[in-house]
Amino acid sequence: MLYLLYLLLFFLLGLAIVLIAYQIYINVLQLGAIYYPTPDSAVTQMLKLSRTGPQDTLIDLGSGDGRILLAAARLGAVTIGYEINPFLIWLSRHRIHQAKLDKMATVYWKSFWQADFRQATVVTVYLLPHLMNRLQRLLEKEINHPIRLVTNDYPFRKLSPAKHYHQIYLYYFKASLH
Ligand SMILES: C[S@@+](CC[C@H](N)C(=O)[O-])C[C@H]1O[C@@H](n2cnc3c(N)ncnc32)[C@H](O)[C@@H]1O
Repeated sequence: MLYLLYLLLFFLLGLAIVLIAYQIYINVLQLGAIYYPTPDSAVTQMLKLSRTGPQDTLIDLGSGDGRILLAAARLGAVTIGYEINPFLIWLSRHRIHQAKLDKMATVYWKSFWQADFRQATVVTVYLLPHLMNRLQRLLEKEINHPIRLVTNDYPFRKLSPAKHYHQIYLYYFKASLH
């Protein structure tokens, strides 16, 4: 009995170490946000506000379980996700495959700070408030064509949204001047 208790304690300690290491990896080393999925109703509103459709290529920065990719792909958009959590990459790829949307949705195991925006017409974001200024700087540097960016819960502090619906904000980013 005591042996089982030690085993359980050992397991819980191992789990705690893995979770803490993962948080340090995401929040410090990769400068990111923890996994907290956008509710399905908000996904629908994000795609509606950004008028995502078959003419679009949508990039989700930190694509989680792939729900935004799947919903946009179902509207006919080509979708690309950047994600660093291997379990979520596996899960989202599995869900995309189950939905037979492999040709419409791709998930890269890569930090979104290294995202390639060249194909993007729509970018979706659900991150943390302290990342928004840095993300704005990245987009202003990288974008060289117009994109619609829609963010859930947290707006860019230094920009006024073109539109918003409750806590969902739409921005138009224009080509950078460099
Ligand atoms: C708040 S969740 C949003 C998930 C999804 N976009 C949604 O709206 O349901 C943030 C996601 O970003 C991922 N993430 C955090 N930092 C990242 C980084 N630097 N590069 C790629 N993904 C990252 C997390 O693993 C998590 O899945």
